[in-house]
Amino acid sequence: MSSVRHLIEPTDLTQQEIEEILQLAEKIIEKPEAYANACNGKLLATLFFEPSTRTRFSFEAAMLRLGGRIIGFSEPNSSSVAKGESVKDTIRTIACYSDIAVIRHPKEGVPRLASKYSDIPVINAGDGGHQHPTQTLTDLLTMRVLKKGLEHPTVGFCGDLKFGRTVHSFVKTLAKQGEAKYIFISPPELKIPEYIKEELPEGSYVEISSLDQAMEELDVLYMTRIQRERFLDEGEYMRLKDCYILNNEKLEHAKEDMIIMHPLPRVNEIADEVDKDPRAVYFQQAKFGMYVRMALIIKLLEMEGK
Ligand code: NCD
Repeated sequence: MSSVRHLIEPTDLTQQEIEEILQLAEKIIEKPEAYANACNGKLLATLFFEPSTRTRFSFEAAMLRLGGRIIGFSEPNSSSVAKGESVKDTIRTIACYSDIAVIRHPKEGVPRLASKYSDIPVINAGDGGHQHPTQTLTDLLTMRVLKKGLEHPTVGFCGDLKFGRTVHSFVKTLAKQGEAKYIFISPPELKIPEYIKEELPEGSYVEISSLDQAMEELDVLYMTRIQRERFLDEGEYMRLKDCYILNNEKLEHAKEDMIIMHPLPRVNEIADEVDKDPRAVYFQQAKFGMYVRMALIIKLLEMEGK
């Protein structure tokens, strides 16, 4: 297909392009009104084959705040998919009507497949337990703004590192951004996949199962939920579901300026009491998600014209 650019995995963007998107997001945060008409006349389609709150709303809010419009479905049963239409045909059709599309799908690889049949930019908003590149842009922007100047962060990833696609995308990208230390905190059953570890320099990470053991070293703690919908065995989920619960007592040993991130939704892994701690930045993070998606939409539409 033509020279259209898609974002399926974070590595589809060069480091330079990621930098430009983050810089643009910062400019938008500073002066949102300057971008209120940046996408006038453009249409964004959201194809959500899997539930979502933040990702879909933040994309829709992003496009509306850029002066564009939106169409889409959040429930595949309400589209022709329910009649047995293939994703390939769905995207071909959507591409006739809109300028840019966002897809979330429970099956790994479907957004990539869709992009092959699309002559408008396709953005992966999460494919199964695989990747979630726009959450990564959100996470990068959060760290950039809230941990300015921190060059060699120690980042702890805690929870379901096996199925957690936000972790997969974030780690892969951080590995390309410079030196960091990774502490992977999970039960043995939910360890980070080998293909992600292969991206990391030797000696840059450890794998442990105790959150307490890591706490005092961390600059960033990235909590995740146990991904119930990806378990084949509900009994296994029930056994693991509350393996980590972050509360104020556990945070007593953390650095004063550590930040606690979470892609959300949270289930039980962060006690509500933590929300009042100034280190808890997950709702701010959700807001950064909208700004970074505004920047991404502008960039992908611009790149298309080149
Ligand atoms: C995440 C996802 O969908 O992978 N949510 C999100 O997009 N912010 C995390 C999750 O569902 O646990």
